[in-house]
Amino acid sequence: MTVQNIKSRFGIIGHSSALEHALNTALQVATTDLTVLITGESGTGKEVFPQIIHQLSARKHGPYIAVNCGAIPEGTIDSELFGHEKGSFTGAHEARKGYFEVSNGGTIFLDEVAELPLLTQVRLLRVLETGEFIKVGSSKVQKTNVRVVAATNVNIPDAIRKGKFREDLFYRLNTVPISVPPLRDRREDVHLLFRKFAGDFAEKYKMPTLTLLPDALKLLQEYRWPGNVRQLKNVTEQLSILEQKKEINAETLLKYLPQESFSSVPALFQSEKSTDFNERELLYKVLFDMKKDITELKKIVFNVVSNGTEHVSLENHDLHTNSFFNDVHSENTPVLSNPETAITLSKPNHLPVDAHEEVEESLSIADKEKDLIKKALEKYRGKRKGAARELGISERTLYRKINEYGIK
Ligand SMILES: Nc1ncnc2c1ncn2[C@@H]1O[C@H](COP(=O)(O)OP(=O)(O)OP(=O)(O)O)[C@@H](O)[C@H]1O
Ligand SMILES: [Mg+2]
Repeated sequence: MTVQNIKSRFGIIGHSSALEHALNTALQVATTDLTVLITGESGTGKEVFPQIIHQLSARKHGPYIAVNCGAIPEGTIDSELFGHEKGSFTGAHEARKGYFEVSNGGTIFLDEVAELPLLTQVRLLRVLETGEFIKVGSSKVQKTNVRVVAATNVNIPDAIRKGKFREDLFYRLNTVPISVPPLRDRREDVHLLFRKFAGDFAEKYKMPTLTLLPDALKLLQEYRWPGNVRQLKNVTEQLSILEQKKEINAETLLKYLPQESFSSVPALFQSEKSTDFNERELLYKVLFDMKKDITELKKIVFNVVSNGTEHVSLENHDLHTNSFFNDVHSENTPVLSNPETAITLSKPNHLPVDAHEEVEESLSIADKEKDLIKKALEKYRGKRKGAARELGISERTLYRKINEYGIK
């Protein structure tokens, strides 16, 4: 197996030496049982590495379990990882095996490992050093044979200084470090990645493939890409969907790139029309939210029509435009009146909308914008920095808009 084989098997794009070095390390270490720590900024592509390591190891026929340590509540993480005995805590009606037991003979991927609570870090250190663990509520020591690959986008030495990560665990995990480079350090890969994503999205959305005019290509390569490959992929998807003209110029591309990240971009791209771009960004956010709502609504209607469901709850649907509920005049207003399937949409009880009040929704973009700004300010308790970040505009633009709309 060569690095080139790995790239085609796992769909990895890029020729930069830093990426090749990382892949080569994964290739070398895969056949051993050594613990690997993968580091790199958010969105750099860390998640494929544990899969490569598992697939190229002698454990490939054993289990592979990926655990997102940041997504498990602190109260249950020990039990999820190491299992628990029946009755060991309220709600533990049955004994349960943890991931370390289930992945015996295989590989466990501990993603966002820096999010582990300190006490769990102690248990992890023990299992790494001796292969031993104890279920929550038990006193029996058990053995497991698991290869650990961990990943983080946190600077662990920094976390150690702040007392959030155990130094001994760091050295134990870091037996073989793999560092995935940020996109701005592999600029030669940016265009390759863009072309790959543009091709994929053209196929997915059945539309012609985007191409970049020279000024847009220059901008693409000189941008900082703080969100790395994930951000490049998202921007390519947005361009594919929203732009009618498939030849993209720098001005168009600039609309999709947050302003704060232009520090290393030449003056040419720090456009004099920045205010317009900010306004457009905000407008796009409104349009995106509306588009998401429409997709959600389509799903609801599709489910209703195909399942013949009589009563549909919107509670589990992530609708951004709250005013949607204002269109539902009363609890039992039939929305589609097919005589065979009388369908009703019910409002979640927690929404403080008067069931009998008819509210005319404003379709003015300015009103929507004002509304969004108010909501963002409420969410961040008046703190403009957080609100601006959430809205995707600069603090300066937010300040101007607050004055313009007379928002208190
Ligand atoms: N070299 C690459 N070739 C193709 N796609 C890539 C490459 N690197 C990353 N991607 C894609 O970019 C997206 C983000 O990658 P991934 O989820 O692995 O990021 P991450 O490093 O785990 O970030 P985080 O720390 O935020 O979890 C994924 O859709 C992934 O497929
Ligand atoms: Mg990840």
